[in-house]
Amino acid sequence: MFSVKKIAESSSVVECIPSEYVYQNNNSNEDYSIILGDEEAQNTTIPTIDFSQLISSNPADRSKAIQELGTACADWGFFMLINHGVPESLREEVLRASQKFYDLPDEERKQYEGGDMFAPIKCGTSFNVNVEKTFLWRDYLKCHVHPHFHAPSNPHGFSETIKAYCKKSRDVIGELLKGISISLGQEEKYMHKVMNYESGFQMFVVNYYPRCPMPEQAMGLPPHSDHGVLTLLLQNELEGLQLLRNDMWIPIHPLPNSFIVNTGDQMEILTNGKYKSNIHRAVVNKNATRITIGTAHGPPLDDVVGPTIEMIREDNPPAYRAIKYKDYISLQQSNELNKKTCLDYIRI
Ligand code: OGA
Ligand code: NI
Repeated sequence: MFSVKKIAESSSVVECIPSEYVYQNNNSNEDYSIILGDEEAQNTTIPTIDFSQLISSNPADRSKAIQELGTACADWGFFMLINHGVPESLREEVLRASQKFYDLPDEERKQYEGGDMFAPIKCGTSFNVNVEKTFLWRDYLKCHVHPHFHAPSNPHGFSETIKAYCKKSRDVIGELLKGISISLGQEEKYMHKVMNYESGFQMFVVNYYPRCPMPEQAMGLPPHSDHGVLTLLLQNELEGLQLLRNDMWIPIHPLPNSFIVNTGDQMEILTNGKYKSNIHRAVVNKNATRITIGTAHGPPLDDVVGPTIEMIREDNPPAYRAIKYKDYISLQQSNELNKKTCLDYIRI
């Protein structure tokens, strides 16, 4: 089985990494010098949204939180979510279960390898090894979890844990969408309607980044924007997510027990550019395995998505051609992930 976990565990790479994983030299047109230092980064932090305020029965508190949410989406496309109500025990259980999945013998994951890009359960390494010249320091598991739920049957209890977590994450995103609708000057269920949320596509992703002896040379996930409407990200205690802002990479330091939420390309398309998706990447580290759990929430795969009528004005004509969500994902998945965004293909 082809996996970076295996490479990381083999003794020959204790000190260095195979050349096909050297990202920096093979992608030399990218500028890596501009990472904010700790001090600067402390003054440049993503907004924090208090979920409990967003669902508060006090109208003034709620409306303040909604306004903050709207600003976070318009200015950053990224925010940290606190007081979200997802039990810490469930978060820990999902991370533990994901580690256990990677502790299984290779054969268990091999059965989900290869296959179609829309296989309901898919294991792999890097991003798309069929087209990549440089490999990423990352293994993954992707499961389609809504409208139909799929998950590996091993390890014992994995599927149940993932199901419970995906349901909670769906509820949190459902509430965020209500706040976002109001922040757009629309009624509460607006986003639910325009993206057909009740039948929407949800994907559960485990990103597994083993410890890397040469972290500055390798890359976990290169610069990209997410394809869906909103992504909810949970991570273990190791950091690695960076966000591109004003041509600088800003390291994200999530508070304990928080989520990172970001807007994706379908959000940008639906809102006709008002709430843009944002470029981010994941770097690796030499200390221990970093695990992140993403749940991506989008419209149904067969829905054709374009800017909504409410977001179009005379001075803001449609900026994107409508495209079937499934075709948009295909476009992203069949290329190397070093393009900044697939939105360039549909921009008018
Ligand atoms: C992603 C992603 C960031 C991370 O899965 O799309 O951007 O830190 N993950 O793993
Ligand atoms: Ni991403």
